[in-house]
Amino acid sequence: MTRRLTLTRPDDWHLHLRDGSMLDAVTPDSAADFGRALIMPNLVPPVVTGAHAASYRERILAAVPAGADFTPLMTLYLTETTEAGDLVAAARDGIITAVKLYPAGATTNSASGVRDVSAVMPVLEAMADAGIPLCVHGEVTDPEIDIFDREAVFIEHVLDPLRKDLPELRVVMEHVTTADGIDYVRDGGANIAATLTTHHLFINRNHILAGGIRPHYYCLPVAKRESHRRALVAAATSGDPSFFLGTDSAPHLDAAKLSECGCAGIYTAPNTLPCLAQIFEEADALDRLDGFVARHGATFYGVAPNNGTVTLVREDAPQPVPQNRATEEGMLTVFDPMVPIHWRVA
Ligand code: DOR
Ligand code: ZN
Repeated sequence: MTRRLTLTRPDDWHLHLRDGSMLDAVTPDSAADFGRALIMPNLVPPVVTGAHAASYRERILAAVPAGADFTPLMTLYLTETTEAGDLVAAARDGIITAVKLYPAGATTNSASGVRDVSAVMPVLEAMADAGIPLCVHGEVTDPEIDIFDREAVFIEHVLDPLRKDLPELRVVMEHVTTADGIDYVRDGGANIAATLTTHHLFINRNHILAGGIRPHYYCLPVAKRESHRRALVAAATSGDPSFFLGTDSAPHLDAAKLSECGCAGIYTAPNTLPCLAQIFEEADALDRLDGFVARHGATFYGVAPNNGTVTLVREDAPQPVPQNRATEEGMLTVFDPMVPIHWRVA
């Protein structure tokens, strides 16, 4: 049995670091295990200009512990008033790596997002011309559509028509949660890829709702039924370069999670790598973990894999879930996969 596994230093292609004291609290966890991360722009107010992205990048770098090898790659938050010129210049100058499309109202701090994709078509055309990837939160927001169907309906009614109009646009379907999303990306050609989160490889909707409600498992897109979770694991462990890690590690204080109207988001940065090693081991695919965490995403984004490595060790005894984090403003609960994890980072 494999006891030690050395991987190329991984990338997290979808990460929420927030700002202020939360930024200070969570950045060390990602910087410990990852060489780079694509930083989501849904701050309050959102990161909507190249200048905002540049100053947010400086605040992140100030929160990276001395000696850590961690590079934040920035995104802009697409709004219906985004100026194509500013966005293209920010990409050309290396300030941003991608642009994030939140359908307005789809998730945390998405109120300034896009109501109607036709309103941003000129910006998307400029992005296609310049080769700037669009990261998509793929859920419709129509209250008539059942929350468990919102991803599949988005693919049919928004994403596929957009890609037919603009086939050159490079798209990452973020945090795919359904077999529909997996099939769409797998068969979608070279200009589409998908990120998969840690938590969606472990939990289905029963974990959230059966035998008591577990707010720490609530995230968006919400976890679907078990057959979908299995499709995600099959895709992650398949070796298909269209699929790569984007943790969507999304810290919220316990007080915000455990309230009348709890926030969506799961904090997986501290234990993502051990959790993934467990999933890949159980799928007899440990040899494909390096591709999933360190190569497929880099290839899609057109960057070289990181220098450096990270080593995982398998112990006979299950390893404890990392302790919950104390921030200046309260406690932050770390993802508990509720199954034995035998791996740890050396
Ligand atoms: O669960 C989620 N949390 N999904 C998102 O799309 C946003 C994220 C957050 O920012 O908290
Ligand atoms: Zn996210």
